[in-house]
Amino acid sequence: MTALTTGARASAVGTAHTRVEGRDKVTGAARYAGEIPFDGLAHGWLVLSTITRGRVLSVDADPVLGMTGVLTVLHHGNAPRVDIDYTGVLGMPPDPTIAVFQHDRVPHAGWPVALVVAETSEQAREAAESLVVRYEEEAHDVTFPGERPDASTGPGPGGPGATEKGDLEAELAASAFVLDAEYSTPEEHHNSMEPHAVTALWDGGRLEVVDSNQGTVWVADELAKLFSLDPASVRVRSEHVGGGFGSKGVRAHQVAAVMAATSLSRPVRVVMTRRQMFSLAGYRSPTTQRVRLGADAEGRLRALEHRCLSRTSTVYEFIESGAGPARVMYDAPAHHTENQVVELDVPSPTFMRAPGEAPGSFALESAIDELAEQCGIDPIELRLRNEPEVGPVSGLPFSTRNLPACFREGARRFGWADRDPRPGVRREGRWLLGTGTAAASFFAGAAPSTAAVTAEADGTFTVRINAADIGTGARTALTLVAADAFEVPTDRVRVRIGDSDFGPAMIAGGSMGTRSWAWAVTAAAGELRERLSLGDGIPPEGITVRSDTTEAVGALAQKERHSFGAQFAEVAVDVATGEVRVRRMLGVFAAGRIVNPLTARGQFRGGMIWGISMALHEEAVRDRNTGALYGADLAGYHVATNADVPLVEADWVDDPDPDDPVGIKGIGEIGIVGAAAAVANAVWHATGVRHRALPIRPDRVLTAGTRA
Ligand code: MOS
Repeated sequence: MTALTTGARASAVGTAHTRVEGRDKVTGAARYAGEIPFDGLAHGWLVLSTITRGRVLSVDADPVLGMTGVLTVLHHGNAPRVDIDYTGVLGMPPDPTIAVFQHDRVPHAGWPVALVVAETSEQAREAAESLVVRYEEEAHDVTFPGERPDASTGPGPGGPGATEKGDLEAELAASAFVLDAEYSTPEEHHNSMEPHAVTALWDGGRLEVVDSNQGTVWVADELAKLFSLDPASVRVRSEHVGGGFGSKGVRAHQVAAVMAATSLSRPVRVVMTRRQMFSLAGYRSPTTQRVRLGADAEGRLRALEHRCLSRTSTVYEFIESGAGPARVMYDAPAHHTENQVVELDVPSPTFMRAPGEAPGSFALESAIDELAEQCGIDPIELRLRNEPEVGPVSGLPFSTRNLPACFREGARRFGWADRDPRPGVRREGRWLLGTGTAAASFFAGAAPSTAAVTAEADGTFTVRINAADIGTGARTALTLVAADAFEVPTDRVRVRIGDSDFGPAMIAGGSMGTRSWAWAVTAAAGELRERLSLGDGIPPEGITVRSDTTEAVGALAQKERHSFGAQFAEVAVDVATGEVRVRRMLGVFAAGRIVNPLTARGQFRGGMIWGISMALHEEAVRDRNTGALYGADLAGYHVATNADVPLVEADWVDDPDPDDPVGIKGIGEIGIVGAAAAVANAVWHATGVRHRALPIRPDRVLTAGTRA
């Protein structure tokens, strides 16, 4: 562990700490965006299209406007115009889906066509459900994958569309072992516990927004651009957030709420229903992936090809870059990766925890397991033989790459050494037992952030940083980081977050939030301590120092920066019903210095549990006739619940990032990476049958049978 503190004071970073807002949350004192009171609050209810493709002929607002409490009906015929010709703070153009009510086109089922605003939420809902919207319907296509000659190659969050080196066919032909397999993952939804909720207030040229999001600057910046407002006149606050997972950026409801607030000059609240979240909140595209591997007699890769096809809407290109992990994990003389996408009449997909890596690692880490089987080499040993010296595509050195340490420690704790590699030979009554493993990685970076720290006259310290705590424990982590930086106990530090007036900072995303914010806090605190050491005393208003890490982050040396991990799973498969039960899971991660072991363990385990869910349960099924989802709710969309989740352990090896002032890398997403592959590989080990399509449903297990 890096020693970052001086004197006898124990480091707060690295010590388990309960959430600083934990008491507020469990007592209900912590208020979320949809429940903060406002004087004169009006309630908006979104009306979504019932057709999948076509155009709106009319919105029959008059009868609804006569209903009790109804204030207005916004639709494409009367809504204010907005400007979507801009680049957002993430460096990407906006998804035009957020520019609500700008035209009569309907590009997918569940497209927002109107907002009904009333005095109460109940009145708004009743009126919204009574609103008659007439459509001209056109034929739609939601079929994925099918034959897709129209697929195009393009970049995603994971990097460029395609990478290529070496002669793939020649290396495959010269390989002692060749694997060529196709994998698929279904449409998956994040659907956080707290639905998306916003309250907008237009007050004398100033826009006040109370919201649930992953970055108030993200939302404030885009609202200012959409409505052509001076950024200084837009304030977005987001104090407590009940989950985001990539879905809580700028979405249709915030824009609709601002439109209504400006036209009514009243605060307007819009909350998505759970069902609406399935078409308005973004989701993970389904994928079909082809992996071709060629290895020599010792299992060393000569050829690696990973191609991933995903799906986007007709209005916005978002690519699920499943071929990304191969660019980091394994090298070969011939190395090809490609991410392709097709446009269909579906909602736009978006970032969903470990975008690219989650589905990509399922395919790649299943394929590596299949190759290990072919080669007759232990799957951990095969991975160790293929540890690259430098980034396989970038050619850059790794800042740290402690994947072997994760496998060694994981194997020891999981009891891997005693494993009989033969599949389908362990039976316990009607259960077949098996174990599996997979590797994990996720990009570890830092983004520019600003922070303000104040030494108060009473000897306490206040940190103001526009961080977002979306349930990760970010506020608590920053309290520990700040306590170390000020060299005081944690109870002398208060951390204020979630307010765009605090200035620009990284969003809670890309596993980069805590690291980026901690950097800014540490920098400001260091400067403040220097000021305090001059011994001038603290005036009543305190002494405030601001930091901006733009330069420091920009000066980071060019290296491959990633967290790594080793996932292990044991499953039991019921040969009579096809049911798969995970019996235990272990994840060992090399993910930088761990700030708060308590919440970090929860973060890793949450990702791993999501991996169980992805492997066995989650699947949104789109009806090709209606173009909409069957069962767009949490009854129809199955997620792992308590009975599905056995002993799940997460731990880590020492892995401080040498280029980070606190040693942090970031842990938000890596927990899910490889987790589904570890489960699927365990199902193979139990049954002797490969499952290359997720989820591994009982009917699929029964249909595929066993080789036991
Ligand atoms: Mo995450 S998918 O970067 O919120």
